Amino acid sequence: MRKKKEPLLKIRSLTKKFNLQDGKKLTAVDNISFELYSGECLGIVGESGCGKSTIAKILTQLESVTSGNITYNNRDITHLKGEELRQNRRKVQMIFQDAAESFNPRMKIGHIVREPLLNFKLMNKRKAESEAKKLLAMVGLTEDFMGRYPHQLSGGQKQRVAIARAISLEPEIIICDEATSALDVSIQEQVIKLLMDLQKEKGLSYIFIGHDLAVVRNISQRIIVMYLGRIVEVIDSNRLTASAAHPYTKALLASVFSVNRENSTEIEIIEGEPPSPSDMPQGCGFSTRCKKCMDKCLKEKPELKEISTNHFAACHLFQE
Ligand SMILES: Nc1ncnc2c1ncn2[C@@H]1O[C@H](COP(=O)(O)OP(=O)(O)OP(=O)(O)O)[C@@H](O)[C@H]1O
Ligand SMILES: [Mg+2]
Repeated sequence: MRKKKEPLLKIRSLTKKFNLQDGKKLTAVDNISFELYSGECLGIVGESGCGKSTIAKILTQLESVTSGNITYNNRDITHLKGEELRQNRRKVQMIFQDAAESFNPRMKIGHIVREPLLNFKLMNKRKAESEAKKLLAMVGLTEDFMGRYPHQLSGGQKQRVAIARAISLEPEIIICDEATSALDVSIQEQVIKLLMDLQKEKGLSYIFIGHDLAVVRNISQRIIVMYLGRIVEVIDSNRLTASAAHPYTKALLASVFSVNRENSTEIEIIEGEPPSPSDMPQGCGFSTRCKKCMDKCLKEKPELKEISTNHFAACHLFQE
């Protein structure tokens, strides 16, 4: 059913290369394509440096693309400029891990929350003041927080303020980049519950980025697994445990279970370091660490292919 719907966001052959000081180029995102459907939460997981934040920054237009394109509501938004870019930013908001770092420490919380409303001239100061109170209430903070400064808030409270600010402009898409990673487990659960409640209430769509597969799986309906700038697997969250195919996804899953298991059954761990993204292997990016590596994997990059309905993997084990 989902496949027939028009996606809200369509990313095609997206590549981002950074120029390094030594003259080399670093490929942070390597020719990736995916869709975000209206009302869904799409998870993106993968270890540090695999390109997750680069995707988030490109989608919120904080970074330009090297090649490829992005379509939002059937409109190409890859190279928007000026007022069009500004208006588009309203619709696609981002919540970072340390969102509070972008708060002006000398501004009170009330001011921080109403600032985007005034910047976009959506209402006058008095109206924005009462709107800020409503927004804070939505994220579970009392009016009393309006007069506090950022340093007087806990990490969880600051993340709630970041959420209030992000939803103030009535976006359609919120990209959460490690938005709950720095929080204690119990606070993390509360913030995730808040995000899910807001999703239902406001019909939001999320891209939820994290390195913790257990957390990402809980909130997302679909998961993209990345390795070294590429998508290695796309799978529905509820099929993940039973049907994960790519050796990297399986290893990630094994490490999730290892935290919870008490017996001493041997688990698969990923040994070694990923290769440097400025010096990519010729074949599969995971070949240097994969226990199932074959000759072909050293020579040819596997393409992402549909291996069963709505389940995609980029691995020579599943390709003729
Ligand atoms: N402005 C930049 N200039 C050069 N290289 C960059 C730049 N931004 C990111 N990179 C590199 O691109 C790669 C992907 O980085 P990115 O921040 O997207 O990873 P990530 O998956 O978000 O990692 P983490 O889980 O640690 O947040 C890394 O190798 C990083 O060093
Ligand atoms: Mg990141």
